Amino acid sequence: HRASIIIDKDFQVGEVDKRIYGSFIEHLGRAVYGGIYEPDHPQADEQGFRTDVLELVKAIQVPIVRYPGGNFVSGYNWEDGVGPKEQRPRKLDLAWRTTETNQVGLNEFMDWCKKANAEAMMAVNLGTRGADEARNLLEYANYAGGSYWSDLRIQHGYTRPHNIKTWCLGNEMDGPWQIGGKTAAEYGRLASETAKVMRWTDPSVELVVCGSSSIYMNTYPEWEATVLDLTYDQVDYISLHTYYGNHKGDSANFLAQSLGMDSFIHTVVSICDYTQAKKRSKKKVNLSFDEWNVWYHSNNQDKKIEPWSIAPPQLEDVYNHEDALVVGCMLISLLKRADRVKMACLAQLVNVIAPIMTENGGAAWKQTIFYPYMHASLFGRGTVLVPLVKSDKYDCADYTDVPYVEAVAVHNEELGEVTIFAVNRHLEQAIPFEIDLRSFVKGQIIEHIVLESSDLKAANTAAEPNRVAPHNRGNAAVTDNGKIEAVLPKASWNVIRIH
Ligand code: AHR
Repeated sequence: HRASIIIDKDFQVGEVDKRIYGSFIEHLGRAVYGGIYEPDHPQADEQGFRTDVLELVKAIQVPIVRYPGGNFVSGYNWEDGVGPKEQRPRKLDLAWRTTETNQVGLNEFMDWCKKANAEAMMAVNLGTRGADEARNLLEYANYAGGSYWSDLRIQHGYTRPHNIKTWCLGNEMDGPWQIGGKTAAEYGRLASETAKVMRWTDPSVELVVCGSSSIYMNTYPEWEATVLDLTYDQVDYISLHTYYGNHKGDSANFLAQSLGMDSFIHTVVSICDYTQAKKRSKKKVNLSFDEWNVWYHSNNQDKKIEPWSIAPPQLEDVYNHEDALVVGCMLISLLKRADRVKMACLAQLVNVIAPIMTENGGAAWKQTIFYPYMHASLFGRGTVLVPLVKSDKYDCADYTDVPYVEAVAVHNEELGEVTIFAVNRHLEQAIPFEIDLRSFVKGQIIEHIVLESSDLKAANTAAEPNRVAPHNRGNAAVTDNGKIEAVLPKASWNVIRIH
């Protein structure tokens, strides 16, 4: 097999919005308690935040973090999480059947974001609540002072407004599992009225309306059409969520799942544009892929959790090498549609289906999926170039014509660098890969990073945290005719950096 890519700096998909490298912290399992926050941990700072975890988050340069849910937000009263900690109530969280202590809330999370150099993407509760709560929360968070809710924030010790720009209008409202789930018509009207009063409170906000929880919902894609019809003028983005798993132990099929992500994006873009035409609107609604990842390893173990416990280990997938390849393919899918996907959140960030794992009181380490996510965030900023990729293809259970090599290039004009991200999905064979740089004058290789493993199921654990880790001994080299040749090892993630 062989594969190639042609890139040209004038053939552009679009600017990368750095927010596509966002992530997610939900009040779920040990994401908050034992994850970002653990006051008794030897490496906790004066506010109780784990500095070892903060260092790992900063290494990824996560630009935006969604909060506080997820399913959790649909039953959450944000007022429970502000003010003196000793007065905060313990409440039952019906989404995850646990007890929420409310020791971390809006203000602490905003402090944590500052320490992580990240923005917040805040969700309002449209499950059990509505426009009234949303406008109060926004007044508390963003209004300078001199009103009831803003003065309450000041009284809580936060004299300056948080100025949170990005807001989600609820979460997965199409799901029967959602507290206060709704039909598309019910949700569309509620989201529209909530958006209206939020904009009246703070005209600078950007709003994300809920799309389908997955393409497997019976209501997909009619949900998107109805919701956008009812909210088009009020919202800026529509959300997409997707999780993949190798449930049947079929790795070739598992690695092909990002093709589903490609068509999901394509469909939602089409519905946005159809609605735009129908409304004779000048405005484009873009996409926020605000939950995406591999999620399946922990499904069985989560059935055994004692109800109403506090911060139990939940959704703690231990990721292996093949999961990292799927995450790499999904990152390439997001980049290929940088013209319309403006935000995305790897769900989630710490312990809960996460690139970063911790032990309570102990170590923090990088899961396999940490690496492609970090590489894309660090090196995938700039302009995405049209990826003219040629590759041999294979058929699998869910897809036909799956290219063995998936690739995309990002041009960072400021740094004078081009980075090519490529996954070789072939499980047995290395594939020679040719890069035709066209209008770029003869490139030089900065490095060729490779994530590979002899065992698709190899994972990183507390005992063996570096079992799967990248090296930069890839063999990309400039040829006599000015092209670049590299061998992509079997089942590998590659980052070829050129200047
Ligand atoms: O990320 C875990 C959960 O997945 C979120 O709470 C929910 O929105 C989705 O179903």
